[in-house]
Amino acid sequence: MTFKKQISSKGLPIFIIGAGGIVNTAHLPAYKMAGFNVQGIFDIDDNKANATADKFSIPHVFGNMQEMLAHTQPDAVFDIAVPGAQTIPVIEQLPAHCSVLLQKPMGENFDEAKRILKLVRQKKMNAGINFQLRYAPYILAAKELIDQNKIGELNDIEINVNVYTPWHLWDFLFTSPRLEILYHSIHYIDLIRNLSGNPASIYAKTTKHPAMPQLASVRSNIIMDYGEMMRANILTNHCHIYGLPKQQSYIKMEGSKGAVKINFGALIDYPRGAADSFEYILMEECAQWQEKKIEGSWFPEAFIGSMEQVMLAAEGIIDRPDNSVEDCIHTMACVEAAYRSSEQGGIKPEVL
Ligand SMILES: NC(=O)c1ccc[n+]([C@@H]2O[C@H](COP(=O)([O-])OP(=O)(O)OC[C@H]3O[C@@H](n4cnc5c(N)ncnc54)[C@H](O)[C@@H]3O)[C@@H](O)[C@H]2O)c1
Repeated sequence: MTFKKQISSKGLPIFIIGAGGIVNTAHLPAYKMAGFNVQGIFDIDDNKANATADKFSIPHVFGNMQEMLAHTQPDAVFDIAVPGAQTIPVIEQLPAHCSVLLQKPMGENFDEAKRILKLVRQKKMNAGINFQLRYAPYILAAKELIDQNKIGELNDIEINVNVYTPWHLWDFLFTSPRLEILYHSIHYIDLIRNLSGNPASIYAKTTKHPAMPQLASVRSNIIMDYGEMMRANILTNHCHIYGLPKQQSYIKMEGSKGAVKINFGALIDYPRGAADSFEYILMEECAQWQEKKIEGSWFPEAFIGSMEQVMLAAEGIIDRPDNSVEDCIHTMACVEAAYRSSEQGGIKPEVL
């Protein structure tokens, strides 16, 4: 598989819908780094829109969607980061043929994902989903080694997260019927698909935790089945309350000629985070583990990549975003399969 390098495409005017946490901490800092042209913002909460516009020097703040749409030209790129339930009503208001980046997940379940896909197809939009882990600088570095055939054919991907995530910070999670896979492991499912294509099937068990019984499942084991010769496993425990020493979060890829291990720090000691590291071994070169310094991280730098894909497609430089709704619907299908596998349960051992 060949992974396209990021190509710069900066000029198109971006209009943001939603001025909440993720826009302030990731979208706008990333766009500033990339030199993207953010022209306007709208939030149903005027104070948030104004505060965000002040902080990031955004020239236009709109009082409602109609005002925003009256101002935009056909080259506008919309960037929607509203709560999941608001995504479809916002898309419905956007003009046909427009370009738009939608925050993940793509709806709250597979039915909603299919409704989003249908709407985008009907309106002939150029639409991408913000599954941005694919574009984190350490992932781009690993893809470069894969592209250059330095680690050979991939036969093992393991993502292992053992951290404490303060889920109580997100009120909406207390009423959400689905939690860990839909809001978190979805990034890893999407990444594995991005590296290895669609799996033949999914096995999963997603589990609640006795200390937070009011929440849906908060820990997951997911096996993405790529046949006999490939292992792709995601293991997450967000309930490790026993301090930092044993907290870990890594992505390990093994190929026929080498391997990469990325320790990613975003989730460690949350929200403080820890440093990332990128280690690799190439058997045809020095056959020893080495460390490479990577500039930037998942938050916020990866957010450049997901927006850049939509802009490149808007300019006709690529046919469609790598993170298009047409591609990301398969990530949602995997999420649905994981929940269904977990509900169905495993094979019961015979009682003797
Ligand atoms: N890709 C990621 O890694 C990632 C990380 C965090 C959140 N998210 C997603 O981003 C979205 C926003 O999350 P957040 O943490 O910023 O939430 P938030 O609650 O902080 O912000 C949402 C904002 O949207 C505004 N809003 C609500 N309905 C609106 C509408 N119809 N039109 C305009 N504005 C509207 C709210 O007033 C609020 O300011 C969610 O869908 C969430 O799942 C993605």
